Amino acid sequence: MIPSRIIEAKREGRELSTRELQDFLGGYLAGDIPDYQMAAFLMAVVFQGLTPAELDTMVDLMLHSGSVLDHSHLPAAAVDKHSTGGVGDKVSIVLAPLVAELGLFVPMMSGRALGHSGGTLDKLESIPGFRTDLPLDEFSAVLERLGCAMIGQTREIAPLDERLYTLRDATGTVPAIPLISASIMSKKLAEGVRGLALDIKVGGGAFLPEVDRALELAQTMVGIGEARGVRCTALLTAMDRPLGRAVGNALEMAEAIDCLKGEGPADLIDVTVALAAEMLVLGEWCEDRTEAASAARELLASGGALDRFRRLVEAQGGDPTVVDDPSLLPSASVRETVYATATGLVQAISPRPLGYGVIELGGGRTRLGQDIDASVGFTLAVSVGDSVKAGDALGVVHASDQAGAARGAVILGEAVELGDDDAPPCLPLVSHRVTSAGVEELMEAG
Ligand code: URA
Repeated sequence: MIPSRIIEAKREGRELSTRELQDFLGGYLAGDIPDYQMAAFLMAVVFQGLTPAELDTMVDLMLHSGSVLDHSHLPAAAVDKHSTGGVGDKVSIVLAPLVAELGLFVPMMSGRALGHSGGTLDKLESIPGFRTDLPLDEFSAVLERLGCAMIGQTREIAPLDERLYTLRDATGTVPAIPLISASIMSKKLAEGVRGLALDIKVGGGAFLPEVDRALELAQTMVGIGEARGVRCTALLTAMDRPLGRAVGNALEMAEAIDCLKGEGPADLIDVTVALAAEMLVLGEWCEDRTEAASAARELLASGGALDRFRRLVEAQGGDPTVVDDPSLLPSASVRETVYATATGLVQAISPRPLGYGVIELGGGRTRLGQDIDASVGFTLAVSVGDSVKAGDALGVVHASDQAGAARGAVILGEAVELGDDDAPPCLPLVSHRVTSAGVEELMEAG
């Protein structure tokens, strides 16, 4: 195989054979194909896409690049959820202990920050000592004991996704339906779950902002899972504004802990409950989504999943006292409040600039493997539609120095758009439900 010929073929839109994909992707994993050739290939896929046959091959190669887990010995179903990525999305941290507390098993494999979107692994690692690289035997032991465990792709499980994911983050090759689908579905299928809830973000902070592209992504991923015997449901959820009020790793961890105490923001609770209900039905915990949602909501409101999260943190090497005292999480040395310069209504809060803002403040990566500062980010004091007076606080920048705080203040001030008119309608928080049976529209824009 001549790697540049594979890249050229994809660049010209020719369908690659199974053998060509095996050689190219396998060669990359074995270290025979360098990052620069893989980056060129990925960029060709961003522009040319993959045919259904190529996508199937890529999913299978990525899925079988490491171990595939089997949880059939567990006394209840193993289920999971994955999001396509957004800003302020800390749902996984709340959802895993919540669904485990209700009796199902959640063997969750997550990712790091990708492009402008945050990553669950980086948020978890903001807890001092928390290990997301457990070997598989330890991962399985924590899962059996606590009903949930949270790790990243490793050399043992989904290693090809681990390599491609990191490379895509640094090379602008994230937003492509086949690459997102293969990345998510390969690692989730490797977890050996019976059911999978997919959170497909839609709106300006999503990798694919338009509803029709988000629906195509949802249908593609559901199709991949169902064809391999895993029941899948996808919800389209709003990412035209950040989810919750905190953006940045440690800040989001603190907000997730609040949510587990029953004190989270309403949008974060609603998305978490909707996804929990899907997981509970997929795992045959009950048949009725409304009943499942009520159980999840009640448990969350009572703080009943908090202790499971505390034990999970401890089991994975983290300091469990942060769960009771989130002030022990890394905190930024400079905090600057940003004030409204005019009176008006909040028209929009753009998620993408805030996501990139976290990277600029040092909380995300600009090159492979870079260390990050977990403490930096933004906390919002307003929501879309709020009325503010000149001088009211719009939010707080958390930065490591004065220059970062000044830059963050500009970013936050620009992300929160004020105007005199009524705010235009936001996307519904949960707008569509996609299963193998088709697409169901849930709510009109409001
Ligand atoms: N999450 C993933 O795991 N992979 C992607 O490509 C996007 C979001």
